[in-house]
Amino acid sequence: MKLRDFIAKKQAKQKITVVTCYDFCFAQMIATTNVDCLLVGDSVAMVLHGHQTTIPANVELMALHTQAVKKGAPNKFIISDMPFLSYRKSIKEALDTVEKLMQAGAQAVKLEGVTGNEALIKHMVHSGIPVMGHIGFTPQSIHQMDLYMAKKNDKKITQQLYEQAHVLEQCGCFAIVLECVDKHIAAKISNSLTIPTIGIGAGPNVDGQVLVLHDLLGFNQQFKPKFLKEFLNGAELVTQAVDTYVDEVQKGVFPSEKHSY
Ligand code: KIV
Repeated sequence: MKLRDFIAKKQAKQKITVVTCYDFCFAQMIATTNVDCLLVGDSVAMVLHGHQTTIPANVELMALHTQAVKKGAPNKFIISDMPFLSYRKSIKEALDTVEKLMQAGAQAVKLEGVTGNEALIKHMVHSGIPVMGHIGFTPQSIHQMDLYMAKKNDKKITQQLYEQAHVLEQCGCFAIVLECVDKHIAAKISNSLTIPTIGIGAGPNVDGQVLVLHDLLGFNQQFKPKFLKEFLNGAELVTQAVDTYVDEVQKGVFPSEKHSY
């Protein structure tokens, strides 16, 4: 997958597939799959580091995980999240962030929201940086987001989402994540844009889907939102395997002759 394939896939009505990836080990496995692109999401702060929100993710953490993913999946298209406030202080600081993420291996960056980001996005795009937008539920604004979730089907909110998507397209974004957006408005937005939309909790009528890898593999027992489908019983498989190992060690079954020098 290359940057130009995002629009080409939309035009050909082929769905774009994205999963999050944070580390070398999974990146190596995902590198052998048909998934189009990897997102080093700031959800890493929650999924791998146990934080309650994505707010503790910082540039160094994102760069470190991006580097690991790049080593494991050098041929995949990698997008890295710009973490909390790293693009809100000044254009210089935002570009310093992009420099670290792209030097770590990202081909593109994603940032959340629209208002106040327009000039920055245009500047980044004019500087040769592929930018992905992200609207709807934007986890870096978690402390305001319960208002969004409560009103997400309001006419005013849906009109705002439609306008935001068009502003992002005009600013030069190559794709937009729609998170927890009503499926009808997500479809309307997708049909009205030339750039693709990538949905998470936005229904089927968008141009692609993204899921957190650990969620789709069923590793996260605490997180079961309506939009999630688990494609593996990961947590059960892992705990069973570890318990079998413990059992075999205790019974003297492992290591056997075969596993001994
Ligand atoms: O950080 C993340 O994992 C994301 C996806 C949920 C889109 O932004």
